[in-house]
Amino acid sequence: MATALIVLAAGMGTRMNSDLPKVMHEIAGAPLFAHALASGAALSPDRAVLVVGHGAEMVGATAKDIDPDIIIAVQEEQLGTGHAVLQARAALEGFDGDAIVLYGDTPFIRPETLEAMAQARADGADVVVLGFEAADPGRYGRLIVNGGTLDRIVEFKDASDEERAVTLCNSGVIAADTNLLFDLLDGVGNDNAAGEYYLPDIVSVARARGLTATVVTCDEAETLGINSRAELAAAEGVFQTRAREAALGDGVTLIARDTVFFAHDTVIGRDSVIEPNVIFGPGVTVESNARIRAFSHLEGCHVSRGAVVGPFARLRPGAELANNAKVGNFVEIKNAQIEEGAKVNHLSYVGDARVGEHANIGAGTITCNYDGVSKHHTDIGARAFIGSNTCLVAPVSVGDDAMTATGTVVTKNVAAGAMAVGRAKMEVKPGLALKLFEKLKATKARRQKGS
Ligand code: UD1
Ligand code: CA
Repeated sequence: MATALIVLAAGMGTRMNSDLPKVMHEIAGAPLFAHALASGAALSPDRAVLVVGHGAEMVGATAKDIDPDIIIAVQEEQLGTGHAVLQARAALEGFDGDAIVLYGDTPFIRPETLEAMAQARADGADVVVLGFEAADPGRYGRLIVNGGTLDRIVEFKDASDEERAVTLCNSGVIAADTNLLFDLLDGVGNDNAAGEYYLPDIVSVARARGLTATVVTCDEAETLGINSRAELAAAEGVFQTRAREAALGDGVTLIARDTVFFAHDTVIGRDSVIEPNVIFGPGVTVESNARIRAFSHLEGCHVSRGAVVGPFARLRPGAELANNAKVGNFVEIKNAQIEEGAKVNHLSYVGDARVGEHANIGAGTITCNYDGVSKHHTDIGARAFIGSNTCLVAPVSVGDDAMTATGTVVTKNVAAGAMAVGRAKMEVKPGLALKLFEKLKATKARRQKGS
C-alpha cells in the first residue's frame, strides 16, 4: 500500500522559552522534526509532507536540506491539529494510498508501532489511532472505547469527570486512507472548549458514517512529546541511553558508557573501543577495531579499521582516517585524508590536506590553509617526515620520502626525496647570558630603591 506521511510542526512551543520554533531544537544533533520523519521512514513513504507555521522558512529550509523531496505545507494560522492536517491536502491531491499523521515534537515512535498501525489498516479498520495507557493521563485526549471499537476521542478540556477517569490516551498518531482523511476533516467543526479544529474528531465523524475505528497501543515512552527544555533534556537522555545500549549490543566497548554521547546517525563497528568522555557530532562512521581515546570530539568524519584517535583529539568534517592511521593528543584534523598508517601524534593542525601513507607529522606541525580569504590545499607524500614545528604555507606540496627540518616554514614545493630547511641560523655567544642576568638584576635593584 502506498503511504504518505504528514508531520505536524507548525506550533511555536511557547514553553520552550526560545526564539527558535520548537521543532528546530535538537536531540542527538538532529532537529526534533527530523526524528519524527525518521520514524515515519520505516513505512517507506511515497510522499512526506511537513506542515510548518512558526518559523516556517527556517523549518522548511532545514527540512529540505535533510530531505530534498520533502513537501512543505504552510499553516499560516494555528487553528488546531485538524486544520493543520488539511494544509497537506493540496500536496496530496490525487494521492492513492494511506496517510499517517505524526507530530514533529514526538521523536520516539518506533518503526514496529507504525507497522502495527499499517497492519490494523490492512485488517480493515477505516481509522487507526495510536493510544497508550498513561501513568498520569493529565491533559491528554481520552480514547473512548466501546465493545472493542473506538467510539470517539475527547479532549481533556471537553471531557466529563467520567471521561477524565479513562487512562487510555491519544498519542496523536492517526492513520487512514488519504482521501477519506480529508473528507472526514471536512466534517470536523471547532465548536469546543478550545475553539480549534481537532484532528481526533475524525473518529466520531467516521463512526457517524458507519465506518470503523480502532486503537493500536504502544508504550507510553514512545509517545513522549517535547514541550519544555526539561523535556528536551530528558528526551536527550532517553536517546543517549538507547544509543549506548545499541552500541554495546553491536559489539562496541564503552569503558564508561554514561560519558559517551552519540549523534542520531553515529555508526561504530564491532570491537571498537570508545574510552570515557567522547562526543560524536553528526556524520561519524568508525569502522571495526578502532580506538577512540578519552576526551575526543568527532564530527562528520570517517575512522577506518585499526585507527587510533586521541586522547583529546578533534576530528572535524571531512577528516578521513585510513586503516591504522594515528591521530594523537591535541591534534585537529579538518577536511583531510590521513592515509594508511600515517601518524599525526601531537599538537598539530592538519586542514585541507592529504597526508600520504606512513608519513610522520612532527609535533606542532601546522598547515597554514587560510590566507584570510580562501582555503588552500597541502599535499604530503608517502613516508614523508615533517619535522616538529613545521608550518606548511598552502598551497604547497611535499613529495614522497621528503623531509622538512624542525621549525621550517615551507613556502615552496618540496620534491620527492628532498630535504627542506628554512630557519634562522643559530649562534652561541659564550658568557653573554651571565652578563645579561647581572645587568637585569642591577636595573631591578635600582628601581626598587627609587620607589
Ligand atoms: C494533542 C491531541 C490530544 C493528544 C495529544 C498528545 C488534539 C486536538 N489533541 O493535544 O488528544 O492526547 O496531542 O500529545 O489533536 N499543531 C500544528 N498546528 C496547529 C496545532 C497543532 O501544527 O494548529 C502541531 C503542534 O506543533 C504539535 C502537534 O500538532 O506538534 C500537537 O499539537 P498540540 O497543541 O501540542 O496538541 P495537544 O494539545 O498536546
Ligand atoms: Ca502537545
